[in-house]
Amino acid sequence: MNNKYELIYEGKAKKVFSHDHADKVIIEFKDDATAFNALKKAKFEGKGKLNCLISARIFEILKNKNIPSHFIELKNENTMIAHKIKIIPLEIVLRNTAYGSLCKQTTIEPGTNLVKPLIDIYLKNDELNDPLITKDRIELMNIISSKDLDLIIDLTLKINIILKNFFKDIQLQLVDFKLEFGYNFKNNIVLGDEISPDNCRLWDLNQNNDTIVSLDKDRFRNDLGGLIEAYSEINRRINDFI
Ligand code: TMP
Repeated sequence: MNNKYELIYEGKAKKVFSHDHADKVIIEFKDDATAFNALKKAKFEGKGKLNCLISARIFEILKNKNIPSHFIELKNENTMIAHKIKIIPLEIVLRNTAYGSLCKQTTIEPGTNLVKPLIDIYLKNDELNDPLITKDRIELMNIISSKDLDLIIDLTLKINIILKNFFKDIQLQLVDFKLEFGYNFKNNIVLGDEISPDNCRLWDLNQNNDTIVSLDKDRFRNDLGGLIEAYSEINRRINDFI
């Protein structure tokens, strides 16, 4: 990145830089992958670019359905321009199908279709290992008002309907995903972060049998191999569809 831009924040998968406009930032998607709160780390050449392109497409789809996000435009293949937002330190996970931590922490069988979407909220805090949190604890910690929490949950459910249908059209099952929200300069809540195979579970529906074929970060989490091939396939299906 051109060094006239100041690095404001570096996360596990992205860097955020200042922009000439005070209200905007430049987000660079890195090739780094982490899992289990960075206990497991690797680099995949081209992952940053794929996640940036996929996220941009998805933010555009959501914008067309009136879901506000921080996304403004792509700058190049692995960077986007976004509105500067104050991130709310909560990770909102929505699950359509039981998998991952839900099955490790309960007796629900992996692959169980959930009758209604389950929303699990985690506190975004690496030192505490992003613990599952309750509405009452959110209130107790004064993270956000219960009105804003309800708004975030409502937006998450709406996003799920849009994305579930979109992914189904490109033969992918949206198992679960994680969202982050923030306040923009007008103090309105908007969707932030990214929406990519790093934070969504996507299963291939182009299968003749019941085997699960993950086209997402589970390829890295579970040592399945072929991460770049899987992300490229998602990007290809999105571009072929639009
Ligand atoms: P989980 O089953 O590990 O709780 O993950 C649920 C979904 O949330 C899955 O799509 C991966 C995503 N996720 C993140 O994006 N970041 C995280 O730190 C975690 C734990 C999950």
